Amino acid sequence: MANGSTGPFPDFLMKAMNLNGDNKIQMTTKNKIAVGTDGGALLECNGVERRFGGIVAVTGVDLVIRQGEIFGLVGPNGSGKTTLTNAITGFYPPNVGTVRLAGKDITGTAPHKVAKLGVARTFQNLALFNGMSVLDNILLGRHIHMKPGVLRTALYWWAARHEEIENRKIVEEVIEFLQLESIRHELVDGLPIGLKKRVELARALVAEPQMLILDEPMAGMNQEEKGYMSRFILDARAERGVSVLLIEHHMDVITGICDRMLALNYGEMIASGIPKDVVKDPRVIEAYIGGSHD
Ligand SMILES: Nc1ncnc2c1ncn2[C@@H]1O[C@H](COP(=O)(O)OP(=O)(O)O)[C@@H](O)[C@H]1O
Ligand SMILES: [Mg+2]
Repeated sequence: MANGSTGPFPDFLMKAMNLNGDNKIQMTTKNKIAVGTDGGALLECNGVERRFGGIVAVTGVDLVIRQGEIFGLVGPNGSGKTTLTNAITGFYPPNVGTVRLAGKDITGTAPHKVAKLGVARTFQNLALFNGMSVLDNILLGRHIHMKPGVLRTALYWWAARHEEIENRKIVEEVIEFLQLESIRHELVDGLPIGLKKRVELARALVAEPQMLILDEPMAGMNQEEKGYMSRFILDARAERGVSVLLIEHHMDVITGICDRMLALNYGEMIASGIPKDVVKDPRVIEAYIGGSHD
């Protein structure tokens, strides 16, 4: 996309990422792609279709997300992006087709089991618990690793204690990583949207996922907040080794941080490949000009 940037990322990202001046992080398009494409297939969809009554929300979707890749998913409202993530994570299993994670067929596996297998997600409409603090909301993301049971805790109190210490350690690391220390005891209710989205990202990351699915994590954000979120996604890949499926409408973000991408329209794949090519594809431009299908 034309953005007048002289660097590898759009201007707002260069600024927010501190890449213009004496940046310590040497981020180039070359190493961005190198990190993203040297792994094997982590997530594979083959011929995925999901219907709701008479509506075919998604059909014929084939995609491969490689280890360490940041993969963009775009399309107008109603084009099936959220449905595809629900098909992958078992919330609304596919009616047709298969989903594989690290080679294992997980088609139709229940959401909590998919989470245990290493897939964490954030939701398009925030799913935080109002009336609870930032810290407590984040702690909830650890529950998939907890081994509950009164008897077990009574008999093996030292193991339970060890587990608690380990859980806390990971939560503290993520709080520091996402710079949430100063608001850890605040209720989530009154936080601005940018911070709420960051808390949701924290809750997903404490589950220590291999695959992170982010459904419009930058919706409603200003340029600065978008820059921060982009930076956190890149760092989560670099420092925590996660692969990412990123649903996003802002094309500057997609071209800035995604290795490859897929565009949907009316539930069907219309283009896939390297972002700078896909965003110029006439079918993608046409779909966006066509607007929402809700
Ligand atoms: N739970 C559901 N029940 C019925 N229809 C649904 C449901 N979820 C999505 N749809 C329909 O599927 C289509 C794709 O929606 P969605 O996946 O939310 O699109 P996007 O995330 O790209 O905006 C829309 O027509 C939507 O109304
Ligand atoms: Mg959606």
